[in-house]
Amino acid sequence: MQFTLHHTDTHTAARAGTLRTDHGEIPTPIFMPVGTLGTVKGVHQHELRQDVGARIILGNTYHLYLRPGTEVLEAAGGLHQFMAWDGPILTDSGGYQVFSLAHRRKITEEGATFASHIDGSKHLFSPESSLGIQRSIGADIVMAFDECPPYPSERRYAENSMHLTHRWLERCVAFMDASAPLYGHSQALFPIVQGSSYDDLRRVSAEFIAGQDQPGNAIGGLSVGEPIEDMYRITALCCEILPASKPRYLMGVGTPANILECISRGVDMFDCVLPSRNARHGVLYTRQGIINIKNARWRTDYSVLDPAPAAAPTSRTHTRAYLHHLFRVNELLGPQIATLHNLAFYLGLVTEARERILDGSFGAWKDQILPDLERRL
Ligand code: GUN
Repeated sequence: MQFTLHHTDTHTAARAGTLRTDHGEIPTPIFMPVGTLGTVKGVHQHELRQDVGARIILGNTYHLYLRPGTEVLEAAGGLHQFMAWDGPILTDSGGYQVFSLAHRRKITEEGATFASHIDGSKHLFSPESSLGIQRSIGADIVMAFDECPPYPSERRYAENSMHLTHRWLERCVAFMDASAPLYGHSQALFPIVQGSSYDDLRRVSAEFIAGQDQPGNAIGGLSVGEPIEDMYRITALCCEILPASKPRYLMGVGTPANILECISRGVDMFDCVLPSRNARHGVLYTRQGIINIKNARWRTDYSVLDPAPAAAPTSRTHTRAYLHHLFRVNELLGPQIATLHNLAFYLGLVTEARERILDGSFGAWKDQILPDLERRL
């Protein structure tokens, strides 16, 4: 994997770059749609590429390990082949999902034991097993096995947890060095900065992560309920320490406004369930503000969902009244059109951010559109 930095903004810390993987190039900043179980819910792979403009998607080790399991994935030739997506894939390592989904969780030095949320069966994830599963999945970018402490966490807990994540990282690096990819394409490990909301811990963690000299770096443990100023301050602090020559990935963030604010602090990669999950509930993002399509206000609005050239083709074709109707009668096509809409909106936003970084207008553009992005229509 290779990262080329084309330009850093003079007024903000925003950057425009290109990340090269064996499955294609990714322009940065980028948003990665979440495809937890080998599908971005309701969106076909063809639509993902053609209509959304997705350049890389995310999968989850925890879910794919439980179903369909590594045996099925390996026999298929890896997740790319299994789901017929030939673009880049990133997998999260499972730790975060164990703590948000699984039952009877317990952390030890070895790893995390948990009971499956599906059938209650007992499992252990360790740095080695998480990376082993990620080898079976075959993602282009694999994440280190970490602990994301809850918010708020007492300082003592946050500090011990951070050191455990660092020790686990050393085992992740050793496992990657001692093992080989299964399918002929390379896999890059991204370590994850932790340290909760404590600036000094975050500094220690970012220095430690930077020192591992891996192909890219991630910031975890944010957007877990902390005040928004904490998230922005810690993101900026981590970006100042993580090397400029490598991509920076902020995990699980966020709203369109969060993404622009964190691009301006030096983040290159984002993922979040918000656009796809909100779409399934009828919540749509536009440059004018946020729409709840189930609201009676849209019942006879015959304007298209979004006339912008960057919008999904279905958003330029179908009216707000039609989508309102589909949601009211619970038709499958409603969430499908809404998901295409929101994902194309996020991809359009980061694409324009990149163009604005390259032509020097990013900061002014961001400040101008921010109030509209957060407005409820
Ligand atoms: N997704 C969102 N936050 C995190 C985090 O802190 N760690 C991991 N592994 N995944 C995340």
